[in-house]
Amino acid sequence: MNYKPIQGFSKLNKEEKIKWIVSEYLHDNSDYEDILKQYWNENTALQKLHEEFSENTISNFYMPYGVAPNFLIDGKLFALPMAVEESSVVAAASKAAKFWLDKGGFKTTIINTQKIGHTHFILDTEAYKLKHFFNFTLKNKLIEATAVITRNMRKRGGGILDIELIDKTTDLPHYYQLKVSFETVDSMGANFINSCLEQFGKTLKEEINSSNEFSQKEKDSLQVVMNILSNYTPDCIVRAEVSCNIEDLKDDSGISPEEFAWKFKQAVTIAEVEPYRATTHNKGIMNGVDAVVIATGNDFRATEACAHAYASKDGRYSSLSHCSTDNGVFRFWIDLPISVGVVGGLTNLHPLVKFSLALLGKPNAQELMSILAVSGLAQNFAAVRSLVTTGIQKGHMKMHLFNILNQFGATEEEKQYFVNYFKDKTVSHHEVITELNKLRQK
Ligand code: MEV
Repeated sequence: MNYKPIQGFSKLNKEEKIKWIVSEYLHDNSDYEDILKQYWNENTALQKLHEEFSENTISNFYMPYGVAPNFLIDGKLFALPMAVEESSVVAAASKAAKFWLDKGGFKTTIINTQKIGHTHFILDTEAYKLKHFFNFTLKNKLIEATAVITRNMRKRGGGILDIELIDKTTDLPHYYQLKVSFETVDSMGANFINSCLEQFGKTLKEEINSSNEFSQKEKDSLQVVMNILSNYTPDCIVRAEVSCNIEDLKDDSGISPEEFAWKFKQAVTIAEVEPYRATTHNKGIMNGVDAVVIATGNDFRATEACAHAYASKDGRYSSLSHCSTDNGVFRFWIDLPISVGVVGGLTNLHPLVKFSLALLGKPNAQELMSILAVSGLAQNFAAVRSLVTTGIQKGHMKMHLFNILNQFGATEEEKQYFVNYFKDKTVSHHEVITELNKLRQK
């Protein structure tokens, strides 16, 4: 098939875009237009709002929006909003929340809240000369040049915390950075940080070019390569933890509290020392984190990138959560680097995001960090608990049952039959099909 490129696709209206896509790519007889259009919202204002979030929108993509109740976090009860397609995530979160509810719940601590961005530049000069220029001239000029951009943020208690000159010339010839730390209070701050950094890039050029401390050759070598925030925020950390006496770790699988604590700690230690397991372990954590990140209109790609970079901070990819079982006390915690906002971005625009934030009692950014870390820890607790007791498939397949049945167009009656059928058994794809065929032949 030879497809043709198209000019001006973004200028077509929604109908025209769909017609072009269908005529160019979709040649069987399925009703592709209807598939897309059934997701258009009848409320045209709401539809338009969503279309304007992104370029070339032709439909909406639904995700289940669920709620996990009974989260006791720092003495306050929350119901967490979760946008996630994986069947067992909300159920697992709810189960973990319930488990810790009568054991004091989750405790959180904000360790720090700094965000980082860089102006990356190339300058063929002596490092000592640049350092001198930075300390005695440039740094102040950079602060002055961004005073207008930072004014509102400073009023809210944030702004630029520090600017450092970093010599990276041993990694790449003539490569330096302005490494800037920011406090962005209740916003994630990406636009604010990038605006400051772009101004730094301009000021850096102007100041070096107008300085008589550098030769023309040095000035000619200056290239501001890019100005951009870093999604790695190892100084924007929240700790979430749970703890209880080991004897209180009663599990309905019949395992003793002591064996449970031992196996659980082993499982976490395995994730600390074995990157293959750490990846899956941390994926389970991010099941909980991302679902709330999405429901609250934050950027899950940023939180993912940051979490995994942090998991590698000691040179080997490792677990984000940790466990101890000293002096008869089980303790399980996570230090999660996470940069999120409750103002700006989608937070004031997307009706469901507004709903989520209202459901959480309109948290500030630090409270949201705490809630996210708890969601990740709870999810991790639920997964590891299942892994070291019943195995993961029992709970997972129970929740997946409806997906299998829906694939075969099961009726409500048939679904009810299977819920009873699998009450005491682990669901398997094969058994559903065999039993469904039997049922339908009857
Ligand atoms: C599945 O989405 C997540 C788990 O694999 C996490 C884990 O193994 O810890 C269950």
